[in-house]
Amino acid sequence: MEKRDFLNLGNLNAEDFEDIFRVSEELKERREKGEKIVPLLKGRFMGMIFEKPSTRTRVSFQVAMEELAGRAIYLPGRDTQLGRGETIGDTARVLSGYLDILLLRTFAQDRVEELAKNSSVPVINGLSDFLHPCQIVSDLFTIREKKGTYKDIRVVYIGDGNNVCHSWILAYQALDFELVVSTPPGFQPQWEELEKRGWLRRKPAYIPDPYKAVKDAQVIYTDVWTSMGMEKEEKEREETFAPYQVNTSLLAQAAPDCLVMHCLPAHRGKEITGEVLDGRNSVIWEEAKNRLHVQKGIILWCMRKEKELG
Ligand code: CP
Ligand code: NVA
Repeated sequence: MEKRDFLNLGNLNAEDFEDIFRVSEELKERREKGEKIVPLLKGRFMGMIFEKPSTRTRVSFQVAMEELAGRAIYLPGRDTQLGRGETIGDTARVLSGYLDILLLRTFAQDRVEELAKNSSVPVINGLSDFLHPCQIVSDLFTIREKKGTYKDIRVVYIGDGNNVCHSWILAYQALDFELVVSTPPGFQPQWEELEKRGWLRRKPAYIPDPYKAVKDAQVIYTDVWTSMGMEKEEKEREETFAPYQVNTSLLAQAAPDCLVMHCLPAHRGKEITGEVLDGRNSVIWEEAKNRLHVQKGIILWCMRKEKELG
């Protein structure tokens, strides 16, 4: 049977998303009732290679694996031979002989694709410069939980046309929600690259004025202005992005029950004010918690075990 990688959302259809949501939801419910350990992955090992920092992704995947009775091994890239120049392909060939599933957080998207190409076990993209697929599946799960559905929900992405924004655009290819993207004109999503990779079958609305974009928004979503690896551009970005801050006056333009979301880490007073982050519309902390449940759904989907819960 063909190996299932989780690299970009481009290979997922609506049914795959629903399978992941269903299993995540059931495991969440069972955990909340006290059934923390559901031993579907006894004796299975995950290798987690991180070439960039992480708090949520690292810990939620580790706990997810162990609550499924498997084990996870944290591999900071620089402490492996990758840090001394061993190729990603050779690393994949060796590690897939020991492990049952791999996760990589890295810079170039091609590095994740290369790992998957040379690995005999499934590979999960734990964030690249171009995409952050695990995050968006978890965010859609949160929207589904809060609004009852993601169908026809108007999601407005405000800020940088980065990896998180690209993953929203990819999810939009498979699912029936509305997506509006609002970025400074010079920081739009990489439309051409999305198209070149065959991932842009339909283009979301692009409205550069954030105050116009959030009209009737049911979800306002933002992310950092300076992603990991772009620190040199921080000062310049802060000036350009200032009008895109998610604050109370922007939120006032949206629907009254609009959810405010952020993948975290947040920079209070930059892309979002503390007032909105901690305010009544924010579901950001629940969104972060849901990463744990949805990582389980993603792992089980990759290992073709998503139907085993019954
Ligand atoms: N949102 C997210 O991926 O957080 P971390 O960088 O802490 O993993
Ligand atoms: N766009 C951010 C997301 C962090 C989870 C980054 O790549 O740094």
